[in-house]
Amino acid sequence: VAESRSRISVIGTGYLGATHAACMAELGFEVLGLDVDPTKIESLSAGRVPFYEPGLEEVLTRNLANGRLRFTSDYTEVAEFADVHFLCVGTPQRADSNAADLSYVEAAVDSLAPLLDHPSIIIGKSTVPVGTAERLAKRIAELAPAGADVELGWSPEFLREGFGVEDTLHPNRIVIGTDSPRVEAAMRRLCAPQLDEGIPFLVTDLATAELVKVSANAFLATKISFINAMAEVSEAAGADVIKLAEALSYDDRIGGKFLGPGLGFGGGCLPKDIRAFMARADELGVEPALSFLREVDAINQRRRARTVDIARGLIGGSFAGRTVGVLGAAFKPNSDDIRDSPALDVASTIASLGAVVTVYDPEALERAQREHPDLRYAHSMLEAARDAEVVLLLTEWAEFRDADPDELAKVVAEPRIVDGRNALDPQYWRSRGWTYRALGRP
Ligand code: UGA
Repeated sequence: VAESRSRISVIGTGYLGATHAACMAELGFEVLGLDVDPTKIESLSAGRVPFYEPGLEEVLTRNLANGRLRFTSDYTEVAEFADVHFLCVGTPQRADSNAADLSYVEAAVDSLAPLLDHPSIIIGKSTVPVGTAERLAKRIAELAPAGADVELGWSPEFLREGFGVEDTLHPNRIVIGTDSPRVEAAMRRLCAPQLDEGIPFLVTDLATAELVKVSANAFLATKISFINAMAEVSEAAGADVIKLAEALSYDDRIGGKFLGPGLGFGGGCLPKDIRAFMARADELGVEPALSFLREVDAINQRRRARTVDIARGLIGGSFAGRTVGVLGAAFKPNSDDIRDSPALDVASTIASLGAVVTVYDPEALERAQREHPDLRYAHSMLEAARDAEVVLLLTEWAEFRDADPDELAKVVAEPRIVDGRNALDPQYWRSRGWTYRALGRP
């Protein structure tokens, strides 16, 4: 029994699941990861992480080698192997509405539950609309041969892409939604290393646990859009939003994190989470409570349009037949994720207005190429900037922050730059002969 207790499974091996599986093995548990996508299983089993996540490959290969970590596509194997199963599948935005697409979560439960003929625990980690877990718990009780001996808890995940390993091993809090002492005890056992570190551990009901996640992301998105709204006002008033943000940040009730003005938020989480949250509030009859998130979304979208406008203004009012260089394709640095990427959105819009747009990104090129055949691609910053009449910095990779304005000036047609992430020093770039424009600054 003691041995079986240290065995867990992780269903879904995307950003969340692959990181969770590798980190749980790192903490000493025996882990079997499952994905229905055989290419992911093949890649992970061979020690290759199918996306860019600093530090994950080392943890993966170390734990494959010591035998604590394996991957499979076979639900029967998973059901026999472990008595605690973590659900880590994706919940993207639906194609036909703003609501979350729960088909992957439902498919995972429908595949796993009928195989559970012994007491088991399922811990959901995916981001779901409030109320989902309660519905899934009923479904599991119906489908599982072990009936009520299969229990469901919900423990949302707060990891940031690019910091996945660190955030999983040392989260800033652990939340578990459950009213079952058995589920709570299992979580305490599985989180013992974090509890020893003094990381806060909160036990809530299922609905609160689901809500913690979406409300955290809604707050973060709101903070970004707040400062971007201040950037809009600053642009109109001739103020400097970077100085403004700095001055705000010294009030520790406000704080400086997620107060970075620029092109705004993208990615696979914040945009779709606030939309799904609004859709759920609507269903619950409390639509007005979250109507401010519509503004948060609108402010965010306006930053993209504004960036296009600034660039167009710099080259005399039209993109038709012009040459444009774009630095950045990922939705943020240290990631190759291009889901709802503000950078690619801006690049595509400019291309659709008639410019020839060449994009460079240190990690996201391959993905960008697949999804955006409307753009050209380069394999270095200088190549992307070659002959450009305007350069746009749209993802703040360190490589771009550290760019040498003199080197870049040698290859462009005109030294004009739009700093969509407020990543460069305006004074320095101007002193090197560049026409420099940014969001929210004179
Ligand atoms: C986000 C949350 O930060 C995580 O806590 C959460 O677990 C995760 O979503 C999730 O739901 O799974 P992530 O999508 O990896 O994490 O990215 P963030 O680091 O939050 O950045 C989101 C976007 O906001 C990026 O496009 C970034 O460029 C932008 N951003 C961030 C700003 O525009 N300004 C800022 O000051 C900060």
